[in-house]
Amino acid sequence: MKENQKITFTQTLSVIPLTELDAIRSELIAGAKKASGKAYAPYSNFRVGAAVILEDGQIFTANNQENICFPVGVCAERILLGYTHANQPDLRPAILAIVAQKSDNSGFATVSPCGLCRQSISEYEMKFKHPIEILMYRPDGTVLQANGIDALLPFKFEDLNQ
Ligand code: THU
Repeated sequence: MKENQKITFTQTLSVIPLTELDAIRSELIAGAKKASGKAYAPYSNFRVGAAVILEDGQIFTANNQENICFPVGVCAERILLGYTHANQPDLRPAILAIVAQKSDNSGFATVSPCGLCRQSISEYEMKFKHPIEILMYRPDGTVLQANGIDALLPFKFEDLNQ
């Protein structure tokens, strides 16, 4: 049988020791950590905090907000990006940091944004025509760094007329 043409996506993430983060990225991780402590997650107890720095240096934080009707709950990243963009629609989000605390209360979790949040991050990249760096905290003392949403969302939905 004839081999079909293949399209291959190769994505790369950097593993950065926490001790090697620069001041801004450390501050974002600290802000996301603090925000995770204020998450409203009575159903999953998986408490997520997110922090974003805008192009002008302003930092905002948020966390997940759950609901007794589970699908109504919203992830930290979308609460944060929506709120930030609602208030600063002309300022590009530059770096987004995410930290989560495990549901069994045993410490910090390995976190990676869900599919809906990836699509939401993609929207703001499209609006500002610029990638958003994503930092994902890991409990082993490192942070996973994606240079933009393409690393987490290859072959993304981005055109209504193609
Ligand atoms: N959650 C986030 O807030 N961000 C993520 O990146 C992963 C998942 C939330 C949604 C829900 O409140 C809880 O974590 C468990 O899925």
